[in-house]
Amino acid sequence: MALIFRDPRLPDYFAEIDGTDPAALKELIPLYEDEKVILLRNRKIDFDADFFASFQLPPTREYKKFKAFQYLDEYAKGNDLYPSLAKDCFGGDRTRAAYFREQLGSILRQVVSLLNETAGPYRIDRQRVTYRGSPTFNENLHIDVYKEEIPTHHFRVFVNLDSAHRIWHTSWRLSDMLRDRLAELPRKDLESLNAGDINKALNFHVFGGLNGLYEDMKQPRHLAFFEPGEIWFVDSRTVAHQIFYGRQAISSESVVERSNMADPARHYLARTDARRQELLCPA
Ligand SMILES: [Fe+2]
Repeated sequence: MALIFRDPRLPDYFAEIDGTDPAALKELIPLYEDEKVILLRNRKIDFDADFFASFQLPPTREYKKFKAFQYLDEYAKGNDLYPSLAKDCFGGDRTRAAYFREQLGSILRQVVSLLNETAGPYRIDRQRVTYRGSPTFNENLHIDVYKEEIPTHHFRVFVNLDSAHRIWHTSWRLSDMLRDRLAELPRKDLESLNAGDINKALNFHVFGGLNGLYEDMKQPRHLAFFEPGEIWFVDSRTVAHQIFYGRQAISSESVVERSNMADPARHYLARTDARRQELLCPA
């Protein structure tokens, strides 16, 4: 399981459950909504780590957003969405490209089965599983924020597809920042912005902008080394994170209606609206 170096200035929000125990897996959703990073004991994704460590996808737009499900579905019907994959990633070796498809299919089936075992009350129309095959270096620390406010909830799981550890930092939870830092934003913003834009402003205020090198605000960080094949669940809108280094991974983000949550009051926008209300209209 992951090796975690905890910063004592931050709350310890790492939780572990037994990934082979159906009763324990059913307990995952309340932990997920409680802003935990959930690690699975005794369960990994089975894949050929040495093979995945032996190539990478080019960091172009086309390959960065690799449409894994669609690619395999269409390929089975005779349509190749990535006709130059063998040339671009496997030195023209079609046998390796075919092995990649076989491996990716097996990985996706395991991830889908895991989502079905853990989703509990969440009704997921279509699992969204993204395969990331190019390296990431030193992202900025952030909670996920968006151009437009997204009213739905999301269910996220990550898998390290490498023979080496994947390295993340994590930092404050949304609830910590709302409690301790929201009052530092201009009052007119608290009065006028929607909750999504407040989260964006808060993220910028606490962690700085997108340029991690020049705008790092020196916030405390836990350090996590995820093992090859390791699986972890975390709501990236409510736990600040930074991919420090990683080569290949699965990042799955399934859309969930807010009404399906075990506790809709824990929705990321509901948390912000409640705290804003508290600050603007103290009881
Ligand atoms: Fe993120």
